[in-house]
Amino acid sequence: MGLASIAIACISLLILHSTLSFSNEESDSEIYIVQLKSPDDGVSANSEELESWYHSFLSGSKSGSSDRDSRMVYTYKNVLQGFAARLSPDDVKVIQEYGGFVHARPQRKLGLHTTRSPGFLGLHQDFGFWKDSNYGEGVIIGVIDGGIDIGHPSFSDEGMPPPPAKWKGKCEFNHTACNNKVIGARTFTMGNGTPIDEYGHGSHTASTAAGNFVPGANFFGQAKGTAAGVAPHAHLAIYKVCSAVACSESDVLKAMDIAIDDGVDVISLSMGWPTGPFALDGIALGAFSAIQKGVVVSCSIDNDGPFYQSLENEAPWILTVGASTMDRKFTTSLVLGNDEVIDGEAIFQPTDFPPTQFPLVYQGNRAGFCDPESLNDSNVREKIVLCDIVDGTSPVDKAKAVMDAGGAAIVLINPESAGLIISRLDPLPLPSTQISYADGLKIKAYINSTFTPTAKFLFQGTVTEDKHAPVVAAFSSRGPSRASPGILKPDIIGPGVNILAAWPSSIEGNENTKYTFNMMSGTSMASPHLSGVAALLKSAHPDWSPAAIKSAIMTTADVVTLAHNRIEDQIIQPAHSDWSSAAIMTTADEVNLAHNRIKDQTLQPADVFATGAGHVNPSRANDPGLVYDLEPEDYIPFLCGLQYSNREVNSITQQKVNCSKVSSIPQSQLNYPSFSILFGPRVQTYTRTLTNVAAEASSSYVVEISPPEGVHVTVEPSKLDFMEQNQKITYAVTFSLLPSFPNNRNFTQGHLIWTSAKHKVRSPIVAIMQN
Ligand SMILES: *[C@@H]1O[C@H](CO)[C@@H](O)[C@H](O)[C@H]1NC(C)=O
Ligand SMILES: *[C@@H]1O[C@H](CO)[C@@H](O)[C@H](O)[C@H]1NC(C)=O
Ligand SMILES: *[C@@H]1O[C@H](CO)[C@@H](O)[C@H](O)[C@H]1NC(C)=O
Ligand SMILES: *[C@@H]1O[C@H](CO)[C@@H](O)[C@H](O)[C@H]1NC(C)=O
Ligand SMILES: *[C@@H]1O[C@H](CO)[C@@H](O)[C@H](O)[C@H]1NC(C)=O
Repeated sequence: MGLASIAIACISLLILHSTLSFSNEESDSEIYIVQLKSPDDGVSANSEELESWYHSFLSGSKSGSSDRDSRMVYTYKNVLQGFAARLSPDDVKVIQEYGGFVHARPQRKLGLHTTRSPGFLGLHQDFGFWKDSNYGEGVIIGVIDGGIDIGHPSFSDEGMPPPPAKWKGKCEFNHTACNNKVIGARTFTMGNGTPIDEYGHGSHTASTAAGNFVPGANFFGQAKGTAAGVAPHAHLAIYKVCSAVACSESDVLKAMDIAIDDGVDVISLSMGWPTGPFALDGIALGAFSAIQKGVVVSCSIDNDGPFYQSLENEAPWILTVGASTMDRKFTTSLVLGNDEVIDGEAIFQPTDFPPTQFPLVYQGNRAGFCDPESLNDSNVREKIVLCDIVDGTSPVDKAKAVMDAGGAAIVLINPESAGLIISRLDPLPLPSTQISYADGLKIKAYINSTFTPTAKFLFQGTVTEDKHAPVVAAFSSRGPSRASPGILKPDIIGPGVNILAAWPSSIEGNENTKYTFNMMSGTSMASPHLSGVAALLKSAHPDWSPAAIKSAIMTTADVVTLAHNRIEDQIIQPAHSDWSSAAIMTTADEVNLAHNRIKDQTLQPADVFATGAGHVNPSRANDPGLVYDLEPEDYIPFLCGLQYSNREVNSITQQKVNCSKVSSIPQSQLNYPSFSILFGPRVQTYTRTLTNVAAEASSSYVVEISPPEGVHVTVEPSKLDFMEQNQKITYAVTFSLLPSFPNNRNFTQGHLIWTSAKHKVRSPIVAIMQN
């Protein structure tokens, strides 16, 4: 039965049900996402038939067709089979009885993945392959977020070609035209009738992905230079789904639906909701439709770290992005009366503040929070005041309170949970420095140790030599994936701490819009960096699939600090032709690697549930040598293997699938660029297939294995000889659990690298002990 006949069947069902009626009370109604049965055997109906089928679900209403139309919020076409409508629970009971109904649930509230921190201007790093990829020219990045300040210099179309011929999008500004940078801008119900950014998050994320060059940028003398997004010549298509206060799920789904038809190449999302089965996760559904059209979807993972299993947007067809620091700091040191130097950071670094010792005061307990009522003129006047940041209190309010009470300067102490990450750098109205919790304890101990505690400020400006960078942000959510723990998540980390990017300066009455550029932190900021990288790769390699682009990004990621990585880049890697298939790396290299591994917020080596494959290295991703590729169909045996019902698999893939006829696979068998092994069975063998995408046709790779502790890993064959481009070779990896698996750990980690004279193709391995 084709879809057209379903529609007819439903219309007749509908007549049968017309005695049932919808409630007329608006009060208990809310927006539901209603999922319907997918078309049989991939037969697609025309969109008019679909529309009328969707509308038929709402026509039990007494008040006739106008009420029916007002209840319908959106009909969907790509992301899922179904619609969003304003319904009451009673209404839902009615439509549940209709043929073709699958599922209905109230839309969820989406959180933007940002910890907001207003700040000022800076420049993005100059990526090595900007030129090779023509700065992302010809690629369209769809940013589903809070709209855009199109008048901002970052969105100028200077040097930009017109949109590609395939572009079908619209521009819904009332008084402004789009340009060759922002080629489309649409708004949805949350958007208040205009794609204009009302808050700043939308402009910030869009300019991070693809802001044009803005020369001569600087603020207060900090971070002087040219501001630019990661793919400065890519086009932007803006889909506004958030107001200043909230985002709507039904809008996000509609925006993905439309973006896919409009012809975007990359979708950038910096929001999500707590994860669930993929069949009920709107972004997962939308992303699946996107990859079917060759569109890469990059998503942030939320800011609920450092706790395990806190990440979102974990479907294997999504690029799942965590956040880390850059090597840039805005160093402001405090020299204590005992000569101890405490380094912190601040944006406002005045040149006229006396470099002399001031009395230092900490009021302790509740007063240490520096709430306005707790400050006492006589206590803090002309003093440097120590204030604790506790969750939910604003550094700006504390600074104002200290200033009003006559304080000379403020020292903000981060909460313990932030570790060593300084990520809420607000521009403050008086001299300040923000320090870690641990450093706060040192200062408090010093204050206790003397009757006359003093300190002086040392403003050092913008410093780009943090040897620890990148460090995983405390707030960056962590794996493992709940929906599918056999896939390692997150996939990758990228810059997401103190990111300077465009900020709307043109909106009156919004006090957040005083600056042309602003500094924000969050995984929201990391995802658009990766969207930009994906755009550059798409521009350089138009034939790569979304999975190939992901693989290139993941297998070339940095796992050591950048300072160390720069040295390593200069070493020509010898090909070890004599590695046995079970070789254990105990070389000096490996010891070095452990020592220089990317750290977490406590400066301990970060584990794979924090970093995924590691920190994105765009220039290396441009030349990965080999990729682990996947076609959309490859996810079907994977989804069946997750024990999803046929109906759920149909919802996700929008094809008729009968899992009992599919040879389903365990999760870890998906041709993914990383390994997550669930023990379970003590011996497990998986295959992976590599595709040769190197410029040179012939190359030989040998495997290097660093097995997770307590696991024996063998690879067969241990040498791969590629003779031509796009050649595929399959290998098998066997993981055997050993008695030596540490009994006080629930996971151990290692890696596997295919090395040739020119390339290193690295996959992290995590071995998870299941209870
Ligand atoms: C723009 O035009 C639309 C449609 O006419 C209208 O609904 C909306 O209120 C207008 N928005 C602004 C900001 O003028
Ligand atoms: C404020 O200062 C006065 C006088 O120095 C003192 O008596 C009072 O306890 C202080 N109040 C607070 C809340 O610290
Ligand atoms: C400072 O002294 C107070 C009061 O004796 C005590 O409660 C606090 O723990 C001390 N703080 C540090 C950091 O030593
Ligand atoms: C799926 O395939 C099995 C085995 O061939 C068959 O028994 C079953 O009826 C099929 N289910 C559906 C819904 O077609
Ligand atoms: C490992 O076990 C600890 C203690 O039960 C738990 O807190 C943590 O979340 C577990 N880690 C993972 C990755 O499952």
